[in-house]
Amino acid sequence: MKRLAVLVSGRGSNFEAIARNIREGRLEAEIAAVVANNPESPALQTAAALGLRAISLPSKGIETDTYARMVVETLAPLSIDLIILAGFMRRVGEPLLEAYPRRILNIHPSLLPAFPGLHVQQQALDYGVKFSGCTVHFVDAGLDTGPIIQQAVVPVLPGDNADTLAARILVEEHKIYTEAIAMVLSGKL
Ligand code: GRF
Repeated sequence: MKRLAVLVSGRGSNFEAIARNIREGRLEAEIAAVVANNPESPALQTAAALGLRAISLPSKGIETDTYARMVVETLAPLSIDLIILAGFMRRVGEPLLEAYPRRILNIHPSLLPAFPGLHVQQQALDYGVKFSGCTVHFVDAGLDTGPIIQQAVVPVLPGDNADTLAARILVEEHKIYTEAIAMVLSGKL
């Protein structure tokens, strides 16, 4: 069974969707650890309640590459096949990229390469795009760059605000992250 480490900072709904898809047989993999860089992340409680290894590894005040080395050390004994960034709000340092080449995935709530960075639903609204969506991609040293694995499109509707658009996109995120993970684990990419 392929082993995933899920890295989170916040709410963790993508983590929950992946865990559910595994439980319900839509993804053949196991979550070997959930690592939160924010000790307040609700995903830690959710993970523990699901009987998963929940690791709080605070990153506050720690330089990016130093933190990356801490993550590498934490994951080393767990034989991780794939690292899943699910709302992980820190840059991934070089030591982590080197330890897991082409084995780190991220999800981003826009149709990359449009609107990288933060507050992307508001950026999309301000720009006036008629469609937005989400992207799963391999992580490289850039900000929301790296080869694209899967995307889903949603319409931007009249009267949308950042929250309503985000909610419409999130529904698709919960589907395509699992699809992308399955695709990568199958070795077909
Ligand atoms: C998602 O919109 C994801 O695309 C972005 O951060 C958000 C995380 O949400 N990277 P959640 O913590 O998975 O609920």
